[in-house]
Amino acid sequence: MLSLLSLFLLMSLGFAQTETQELESYIQTFNMKPLPELTPRNHDLYQLGARLFFDRDLSGKGNISCHDCHSMGAFSGDQLPLGLGEGATGLGKERDQAEGVILPRHTPPLFNLGFNSVKTLFWDGRVQRDPRGGWMTPEEKINGPTPELSHIAKSLDSLLAVQSLFPIANPEEMLGQGSTLSQVEAWEAVMERIFSGKFTEQYKRLFKAAYPELQDYNIAHVANALAEFERHQFLSHKTPWDLYLRGEKDALTTRMKRGANLFFGKAQCINCHTGEHLSSFGFQNVAIPQIGPGKTSGDDKGRFEVTQNPSDLYRFRVTPLRNIALTAPYMHSGAFSNIWQVIDHYDHPMRSLHHPVWNPKHPQYRDELVLDTSRENMMARMKSLPMTLPRNLALSKEEKTDLYCFLMVGLTDKKYQNRLHKGILDEISDCSPRIDQRSSFRR
Ligand code: HEC
Ligand code: HEC
Repeated sequence: MLSLLSLFLLMSLGFAQTETQELESYIQTFNMKPLPELTPRNHDLYQLGARLFFDRDLSGKGNISCHDCHSMGAFSGDQLPLGLGEGATGLGKERDQAEGVILPRHTPPLFNLGFNSVKTLFWDGRVQRDPRGGWMTPEEKINGPTPELSHIAKSLDSLLAVQSLFPIANPEEMLGQGSTLSQVEAWEAVMERIFSGKFTEQYKRLFKAAYPELQDYNIAHVANALAEFERHQFLSHKTPWDLYLRGEKDALTTRMKRGANLFFGKAQCINCHTGEHLSSFGFQNVAIPQIGPGKTSGDDKGRFEVTQNPSDLYRFRVTPLRNIALTAPYMHSGAFSNIWQVIDHYDHPMRSLHHPVWNPKHPQYRDELVLDTSRENMMARMKSLPMTLPRNLALSKEEKTDLYCFLMVGLTDKKYQNRLHKGILDEISDCSPRIDQRSSFRR
């Protein structure tokens, strides 16, 4: 009897070691690193950025700020399948379409975008660095090594800053439906509103503090401040996964380790979700159904909309994965409302594409959000699926649960672990947010 027990103990010990060893070898093979620290915060620039991020005066009609779509209560997203533009009301779950249009794509969260290792922004990567120097964006005049508006282009200090120029110049998002201003005119109008609006005196002080050496400001200085705010406000790199990689070997439970091993091994997520952000920042077609208005004639061809290169059809940017437990729904079209659905999709993408789980009724929208189930649409997507997307993972229920646990708890920052949906996680053994036990905030 005693020897049986010790055999059992030995075996379970053996298994536990195997999981850890397997994970350690994946970490080596794929050279996995935790997210690094950021450069220290520039306090004055951050303060200016915070003011701007919440300021509806940045919009053409004074009715929408960055925060209306990327809200704090909704973990820097809007909790909707597809974003709602200028004219919509309320935040997060309270958001209502009202006079706004349904935007073509899901509002992404803003976590960890301030690192230089983030190579592309937007679902189609239309903001990136130009390999020849300078920027590559939807505005010709600030692009490339010798931009026409060099006073703006040369003052922009990061890719994240460049990105922020576009929501404010987009008629449906912030500029105002029906506006005929060019992007450059829209930026000039923003500067005018800031320096001749009701908060001018406050802004003069904030700009002076943030840029003590400057007399003249342009939209790049607004953009840099917004980026500094986003960079630090949405920095989130203390997940169990990061802690484990930093040497806290008990940060992941055995189940989470098994989930991570599936991520690197059998489930092949690592084919695309690589590097410290768990994203290659490249573009792939992973057979996500089309929902809503799309970019052109009811469809969204992803990266192709930017490059017009047929090999980019239906490719979207590989999404970074920190804190995904908090930022449902998922994918560029918001097609999946939870992580189980995402896992089921990857388990058998063709089956998922042909039998989508989608409820068209969302109380926030005036009309139903229609999913395109036409044969043409499905065929078009299937034609360009990459070899790196496994066609049939055949994951068991237990394996799906392991993966789920790694994605949901293993990748959620400890400062948000107490916001996880306990109801669902409590039913899974060895998946509870471990950090809590050590945290002084919870029993
Ligand atoms: C009307 C809603 C709305 C407003 C207002 C808005 N955004 Fe967004 N934001 C979106 C949507 C939708 C996308 C995705 C668009 C796409 O990829 O085509 C996005 C994308 C982004 C991204 C890219 C994230 C990534 O991972 O690629 C950043 C950064 C961002 N927004 C920051 C801002 C800032 C800063 C402001 C204010 C200047 C702002 N947004 C205003 C809806 C909004
Ligand atoms: C062939 C490349 C590829 C593989 C393999 C892959 N992904 Fe993805 N992943 C992507 C792309 C591209 C997107 C964005 C697709 C879109 O929106 O159309 C994405 C999006 C996601 C999202 C949505 C994140 C969000 O915020 O909306 C999750 C979660 C995710 N992947 C998890 C996984 C997991 C788990 C695996 C392994 C089972 C996996 N991925 C395998 C390329 C890949």
